[in-house]
Amino acid sequence: MSTWDVEKIREDFPVLSQTVNGKPLVYLDNAASSQVPQLVIERGAKYLREEHSNIHRGVHYLSQNATTAYEAAREKVKRFINAREAKECIFVRGCTEAVNLVAYSFGRKFIGEGDEIVVSQMEHHSNIIPWQMVAEEKGAKIRMIPMNERGELIIDEYENLLNERTKIVTVSHVSNSLGTVNPIKEMTATAHKFGVPLFCDAAQSVPHFPVDVQDLDCDFFTFSGHKMYAPTGSGVLYGKREWLDKMPPYQTGGGMIRTVSFDGSTFAPIPDKFEAGTPAIAAGIGLGAAIDYLNSIDFEAAAAYEHELLEYATQRLSDIQGVKLIGTASEKASVLAFTIEGIHPHDIGTILDQSGIAIRAGHHCAQPVMKFFEVPATARASFAFYNTREEVYKLADAVQKVIEVFA
Ligand SMILES: Cc1ncc(COP(=O)(O)O)c(C=O)c1O
Repeated sequence: MSTWDVEKIREDFPVLSQTVNGKPLVYLDNAASSQVPQLVIERGAKYLREEHSNIHRGVHYLSQNATTAYEAAREKVKRFINAREAKECIFVRGCTEAVNLVAYSFGRKFIGEGDEIVVSQMEHHSNIIPWQMVAEEKGAKIRMIPMNERGELIIDEYENLLNERTKIVTVSHVSNSLGTVNPIKEMTATAHKFGVPLFCDAAQSVPHFPVDVQDLDCDFFTFSGHKMYAPTGSGVLYGKREWLDKMPPYQTGGGMIRTVSFDGSTFAPIPDKFEAGTPAIAAGIGLGAAIDYLNSIDFEAAAAYEHELLEYATQRLSDIQGVKLIGTASEKASVLAFTIEGIHPHDIGTILDQSGIAIRAGHHCAQPVMKFFEVPATARASFAFYNTREEVYKLADAVQKVIEVFA
């Protein structure tokens, strides 16, 4: 194992020290929501206790302070993902809102009858349905990038899907149901050969390894705060200015206008154009604090440690007779999904909970993936850099017991 002081890191996350059903909590549901470090909890509490006020239009002390803190969080996001400018970073509630924003706004302007939207087979529902809605409204078509039995996208088939009718490609950086890391940089370069922008859903990559949007060169990129150690209600849509400037607003109302009259209205430049209404101020400031936290640790070492943990857990579970792993791509992050013949994943999840082990069971908002693997659901353990080897033993032991209970 790498030299990562996991016990020290765990002290930063107060929730981890509790017991559940009389057993120490083993939290392996990080792909759904990660836990929040003390520094982020304190920053949110300080804002609510001492700084709370509405932002952007206030002339008084509290409002100006809150505005400064909120905009400082945007600067932190910019540096964290290496965007060219902070204005390219739009605050949203999370990935779901970001996809809806782009599908609606980009779709309204750039997608027409007979056009094609390329979507991968392993997407979360939130990166499928908004595109289906646009396609239906505009008379466009969804074309699916298929995957192989290991849960890897078939890149040759992707290239064959692109043509002059393609208007956008959308694909996750890391699949939430399989853990596959997709080759976004290469896929973007291919899309660009056809003059097509690529939207990257980074919900499951940003919490697990450093990212650089300029290096990936993707045109849109989104992540949710609650999966990267920040509060719910925070998230980011990054978009290249050349696209965002041309796109119409998604929601309208206060804060996003330049002028309003009954003859018509004009809109503010980015990012305000896409941030109508009072935002989730405390959550945005909390997201900035989560980035401070990730900058305060050795994130590269964290990623390496977490990857070793995933490989170790993969080995342990594949040694158990009756366990079938779902998603065995050569490049994976965080997610270990599995089934046990004859036992419903919900039963696995419920029995593990009795041992204090939190995993997720279900279709993981990825029904096309379940259909491909011909399963109704899977059990999913997902790791963060605060999980331990001992927790992996406990997971493997508990899975073994589930099999014995049902034998
Ligand atoms: C890959 C992926 N995309 C999008 C989402 C949706 O994120 P949110 O619910 O934070 O909007 C999730 C959530 O699980 C996800 O895993």
